[in-house]
Amino acid sequence: MKIIICKDYEHMSRFSADIVIEQIRQKPDSVIGLATGSTPLGMYKELIRQYKKGRVDFSKVVTFNLDEYLGLSPDHPQSYHYFMFNNFFNHINIKIENVNLPGGITAYNLDGVCREYDEKIEKAGGIDLQILGIGHNGHIGFNEPGKKLYTQTHIVSLSHETIKANSRFFDHIDEVPRKAITMGVGGIMRAKKILLLASGKDKAAIIKKAFSGIITTEIPASLLQLHKDILVILDKEAAKELKLDNKRFCA
Ligand code: PGA
Repeated sequence: MKIIICKDYEHMSRFSADIVIEQIRQKPDSVIGLATGSTPLGMYKELIRQYKKGRVDFSKVVTFNLDEYLGLSPDHPQSYHYFMFNNFFNHINIKIENVNLPGGITAYNLDGVCREYDEKIEKAGGIDLQILGIGHNGHIGFNEPGKKLYTQTHIVSLSHETIKANSRFFDHIDEVPRKAITMGVGGIMRAKKILLLASGKDKAAIIKKAFSGIITTEIPASLLQLHKDILVILDKEAAKELKLDNKRFCA
């Protein structure tokens, strides 16, 4: 595991966008796993900026998103479908048929939908580069802390902490969906390379716990310590509780 500490959110966003661009240059038909949330927004903005300058071509890229709420239609402003199109896909030359998000309100055979999603990832050759954020409780995707974790894509009941954290995007906490569909920890761990981003002082405590050397299902992100090719990119604030040994600053 490598940890890179950037001086601020902007640098973190540019640094991570450069890694995505390099991945696509090396392999134009890369399969990229994408995340929603506030953290990767700056990276998406930078990727759009670089695309507009002609420095990256998404025409062969295939994407799979980590998760989606259950019960929101794709055009609901808080759905992750809407988020991804609004903040990223609508501004680049990705082909709509290469964009994959799990679930959707019409998903009635939920187990089947979950299996199909994993099969589709496998058929695409697996994820080359997975982008991740981290929840304040250590969740990755919507894999919430608990006694057990699931390897495959599955339906999850959101924890109170996640509902509360995500209520900032809704008018009222009661509007936050209680369930979601998420790739499992196994699916995430199968990605060839992982990029986890975190910024802000409110993430400092969970970053310390998740990457402290202890692995527990109570902190799902801690399992990432077992991955062979993971890069954790933090801003200074998110890194401030980490010990100084295995980290370095980006330029
Ligand atoms: P955030 O969400 O980027 O909005 O902090 C991260 C997450 O919950 O995974």
